[in-house]
Amino acid sequence: MAKQSLTLNNGHKMPLVGLGMWQVTSPEECKDSIRAALDAGYRHIDTAYAYQNEAFIGEVLQEYFTAGKLKREDIFVTTKLWVTYHEKDRVPLCIAESLKRLQLDYVDMYLIHLPVGLRETGKGGLFPLDENNKPAFQDVLLTDTWKGMEQVVRSGQARSIGVSNFNMEQIDKIYKIAEIIPATNQVECHLYLQQEKLFRFLKERGITLTAYSPFGSPARPAYLQEEGAPRVLDDPVAKDLATKYKRSVGQIHLRYLIQRDIIVIPKSTNPGRIQENLKVFDFELSGDDMSKLAAQDKKLRFFTGLQFKGHPEYPFDEPL
Ligand SMILES: NC(=O)c1ccc[n+]([C@@H]2O[C@H](COP(=O)([O-])OP(=O)(O)OC[C@H]3O[C@@H](n4cnc5c(N)ncnc54)[C@H](OP(=O)(O)O)[C@@H]3O)[C@@H](O)[C@H]2O)c1
Repeated sequence: MAKQSLTLNNGHKMPLVGLGMWQVTSPEECKDSIRAALDAGYRHIDTAYAYQNEAFIGEVLQEYFTAGKLKREDIFVTTKLWVTYHEKDRVPLCIAESLKRLQLDYVDMYLIHLPVGLRETGKGGLFPLDENNKPAFQDVLLTDTWKGMEQVVRSGQARSIGVSNFNMEQIDKIYKIAEIIPATNQVECHLYLQQEKLFRFLKERGITLTAYSPFGSPARPAYLQEEGAPRVLDDPVAKDLATKYKRSVGQIHLRYLIQRDIIVIPKSTNPGRIQENLKVFDFELSGDDMSKLAAQDKKLRFFTGLQFKGHPEYPFDEPL
């Protein structure tokens, strides 16, 4: 059986496959999915302050702890700092809210969700709007936010810290001043956006890459769907390999990523697919087949964050 976790730059282990929880806001669906995942053997859950499901996840974790089915140290929980908490002194407030909802004393991984900050205006919900109904941009130095992130490690609220949706220049800003080097950068990564350049850049600095939307997020919201955009799960090379290896197409996509030492957090609320997505450690793609998949890269980003364009820390203009 191949290795199932990566050792981070601080010695903690992070399971290579986790359950993604974005867009799972129905309490019952969320709780049933977490139960299905824990029963299937998942030991890594990816959520965020902004996903509005931390409380449901916390309920199920408590249920499993109380029943003696799971110990706190068995499970790796990631959550994320929301964009309205970028000021250094607000970082501990945001994580405290997440911990309360999750009913945990600490999270295993805490990430800056986006490099773009917004200020609270009381209008627009999670994405506050200014007086012109435009996103209320707030330009907090990323290095200041990082100081707040380091603080939550010192206070014991997070074991590891990292970033999400950061480009190389932004990683570099933090890396230069960090007392604690980020442990991961969670970014969009799949067959059509392979992130090889960013991956090498991170590797040289001892930072792992976590792939969000490893299937290309087929059910992403309409505003992120471009007409005629290719579907990652329809890729013909991956489909042929699924036949060759007698695996599902999804398993080929996940195996390709974890075999490159990339952590994956596929989302599913379907019990069968939840199980399927974890069964990727008992086969290996040949070097030739890895190369065939590498050749399918289209450097195609589905998450363009266009509503943040114009913010000084808009991350997606850097060449791929
Ligand atoms: N940091 C960030 O900014 C950010 C952004 C986006 C996502 N994320 C994280 O990454 C996670 C995953 O990304 P995602 O939710 O965008 O999309 P994804 O994991 O690429 O795709 C999920 C979709 O694929 C379907 N699916 C799951 N397993 C499958 C399989 N084996 N075969 C075929 N279809 C399958 C799911 O449907 P069913 O549920 O019906 O199975 C769902 O519609 C998120 O949940 C979140 O935790 C982070």
